[in-house]
Amino acid sequence: MTLDEIKALVRTVPDFPKPGILFRDVTTLVGHGPGFSAAVDLMAERVKASGADVIAGVEARGFIFGAAIAARLDLGFVSIRKPGKLPVPVIAIDYALEYGTDTLEVDPEAVGEGHKVILVDDLLATGGTALAAIELLRRAGATVEHTLFAIDLPDLGGGDRLRSAGITVHALLDYP
Ligand code: PRP
Ligand code: HPA
Repeated sequence: MTLDEIKALVRTVPDFPKPGILFRDVTTLVGHGPGFSAAVDLMAERVKASGADVIAGVEARGFIFGAAIAARLDLGFVSIRKPGKLPVPVIAIDYALEYGTDTLEVDPEAVGEGHKVILVDDLLATGGTALAAIELLRRAGATVEHTLFAIDLPDLGGGDRLRSAGITVHALLDYP
């Protein structure tokens, strides 16, 4: 399957979540067996090239890609969770959204010193989520230098923000 064929499986929904936004929706890609498998294979190659030994992903859509790639490569997967979900004491970070703030949490026993982590998510927009997740993983003691996304929306500036912070950014597809 070619990258163009994979890209054609991403659904574009106008005016979601608000008027004027073109929402790139991976539901249709992950629902297509050969397309999802091809995307996971190509992303797994990027993970291998990064030298990372652990994959971290952000709830919820980051779990879909991150866990699939981790299983394909026999790597562990670290869940970065929305607040209040983990049954143990957590490390937490608050981060700014367009309106208000949100929080990400990780189990400090799941990741720490000596781990070289690559952060995987379905989509990079402003980069706020990725930057917060990286800071959280670093507070836990991990080394994080690489990120990998199924989709980058470069006009929203996330890639530039991450690169300015010294983070390497890879994306399977972009929508300039
Ligand atoms: C989306 C997406 C990324 C984040 C990207 O998740 O899956 O995690 O937003 O946006 P950013 O680069 O501007 O931070 P969302 O918060 O919608 O959660 P979901 O995966 O639970 O749908
Ligand atoms: N698709 C999915 N998630 C998003 C988008 C999008 O276009 N923009 C910001 N988060």
